[in-house]
Amino acid sequence: MDLVIFKNYDELSQAAAEKVIAALRNNPRLVLGLATGSTPLGLYQRLVEAFRQGRVDFAQVTTFNLDEYYGLPASHEQSYHYYMWEHLFRHVNVPPENTFIPAGDPADVDAECRAYEEQIARAGGIDLQILGIGANGHIGFNEPGVDFSLPTHLVELSERTITANSRFFPSRAAVPRKALSMGIRTIMKAREILLLASGPDKAEAVRNTVEGPVTPEVPASVLQRHPRASIFVDEAAAALLSPALRRKVQGAGTVALG
Ligand code: F6R
Repeated sequence: MDLVIFKNYDELSQAAAEKVIAALRNNPRLVLGLATGSTPLGLYQRLVEAFRQGRVDFAQVTTFNLDEYYGLPASHEQSYHYYMWEHLFRHVNVPPENTFIPAGDPADVDAECRAYEEQIARAGGIDLQILGIGANGHIGFNEPGVDFSLPTHLVELSERTITANSRFFPSRAAVPRKALSMGIRTIMKAREILLLASGPDKAEAVRNTVEGPVTPEVPASVLQRHPRASIFVDEAAAALLSPALRRKVQGAGTVALG
């Protein structure tokens, strides 16, 4: 796992965008795994700018999102379908038929989860997966205590996640209690992973992910076992890393852990 610490959210977003742009230029048929939430907004804004400047082309790209709330149709303003359309897809030239997000209102949940795994496999697997991290260490909606061997499945959101995500809804009661999410097994199959973490609320999760043991209690800690995982954090999210590690990263720019 490579760790890089940036001064602030802007620098982190810029570096994440340059990494994705380089991957897109290197492979125009890139299969890109995407996340929602607040953290990747700066990345998406920069990808849209790069597209407008003619620096990137999404014509042959395929995307797979990590998750979707169970019970929300794609047209719901808080659905991740809506988010992706608003923040990225409608601004670039990715063919809509190449964009995949689990359905939030499937007739048959198990069939939808199986079909999602098959779609990923048919696309040749995910080349680069973008991740955010929950304050409780979740990735996708794989909450603490998750079984690392699960593929895409229906997840019960933790109370902490419901509280954190209530900022996007009119009330806490309006937040869906469940979601369809890629499992840890799905995420770990991606050829490369880039996890982004910003702000003091993520500092504890970042420390546990990077310096703690690999444990289902901190789902992101499993990334220590991935051969090509990078974690980009800003200084606020790095605040609880051990001083020795922070010094090492700040001196070298990046540090390979484990
Ligand atoms: C979103 C997702 C979640 C978020 C995480 C952090 O698709 O899978 O794991 O990445 O909850 O959310 P923010 O960035 O809003 O703090």
